Amino acid sequence: MKKQLLFTPGPVNVADSVRQAIAKTDICHREIDFNNLLASIESKLLSLFQIKQKADYNAIVITGSGTAANEAILSSVVGDGEILILSNGEFGERLHKTSLIHNQKTHLLEFPWGQALDLKTLEAYMNTHSINVIAMVHHETSSGMLNPLAEIGALAKKHSAIFVVDGVSSIGADAMDMETNNIAFCSSSSSKAVGSYAGLSFVVGRKAEFEKLRTHRAKTTYLNLATFYDFLKNQSQTPNTPGVPLFYALEKALDNILQEGVTSRFAKIKRRAEFLRLGMKKLGLNFLLAEQDMSSILTTVHLPLTLNAATLRQKLRQSSIIIYEGKGCFAGKVFQVGNIGELSNVDIKFFLDSLRAILNAALSDAGHRSETSVPFLSHGPSVYVEQDVLDAIAP
Ligand SMILES: Cc1ncc(COP(=O)(O)O)c(C=O)c1O
Repeated sequence: MKKQLLFTPGPVNVADSVRQAIAKTDICHREIDFNNLLASIESKLLSLFQIKQKADYNAIVITGSGTAANEAILSSVVGDGEILILSNGEFGERLHKTSLIHNQKTHLLEFPWGQALDLKTLEAYMNTHSINVIAMVHHETSSGMLNPLAEIGALAKKHSAIFVVDGVSSIGADAMDMETNNIAFCSSSSSKAVGSYAGLSFVVGRKAEFEKLRTHRAKTTYLNLATFYDFLKNQSQTPNTPGVPLFYALEKALDNILQEGVTSRFAKIKRRAEFLRLGMKKLGLNFLLAEQDMSSILTTVHLPLTLNAATLRQKLRQSSIIIYEGKGCFAGKVFQVGNIGELSNVDIKFFLDSLRAILNAALSDAGHRSETSVPFLSHGPSVYVEQDVLDAIAP
């Protein structure tokens, strides 16, 4: 099968070194070899999270996708208390849905998809309710918006609430300062900006908060954070059989990031996003969000009226390029282009050239149709873009 270029916010094209690491060797997860592997991954995760006081934090790893880490947090940290979910998109809604299953006293502050969380509304809510835990998504992947952490972390602190964050699609590309922002637990996944295969997720948390979890009644067997923490602390193991090959791959992906340097890695991904965005603007496309509100990972683009999402996706697929269509209220209105994983500037140029050809063909089609019965469609690109326009911006 021909190599596909995954311009998605995960899964990603993994590095060859990660592909090789997954088949490293067969070990038993109840032997010292796995204990060492898990300890090494934990330390590397804390470095990826740029934790300064490493002795005060732990990282547990779950065999399960990002949702497993989110469900572990939501089922383990609330006890009989009250949790407030902040939502401005699909993944905020999912946190809410998961919390409702485990926590009777689940509150929701819902903002429109693609719009900022309103801090004044949040402050007023916190002043009039007794909230023990605030949960939110860092990078809301359904819109591409990077939600602010500092103000909400400060508000949580003021109200003595625990602050927990879904970092599934941001970790590895956008900075997450748990210490400054008062974040007790943050989830993430192996398969997105971290650059490994799908199947592992992790929770980084403050040791003092992990210690408190034992006082809560367990709500799940498999995803109980207190059990993961006890196994980590006492044996450097996981409670149940882990997907060991995935751990090898994750360790290699973390090595790759740390070798490059965490901040250099973030800067490289951001530069890639800027190149991609500049190229799409040259093609006459418009974005859902202002660029300062976007993550470094993903760009959500208005569909031109000359093309529907399924056709665009299908045509790009013919060039082995994979993108996402919009979800929920954005379905049929936007498409999404990621720029994480092993994508080079040459790959991005190839994407832009392919997109240019598809848009020009659609424009030409629409022009022909407008001569007969369909009115000319003006939303999105309205002039043909020549190849040299894109050549000029290539790094
Ligand atoms: C912000 C966010 N949270 C949670 C998830 C769910 O992760 P998974 O599909 O790995 O379970 C995703 C997946 O895209 C996500 O983007």
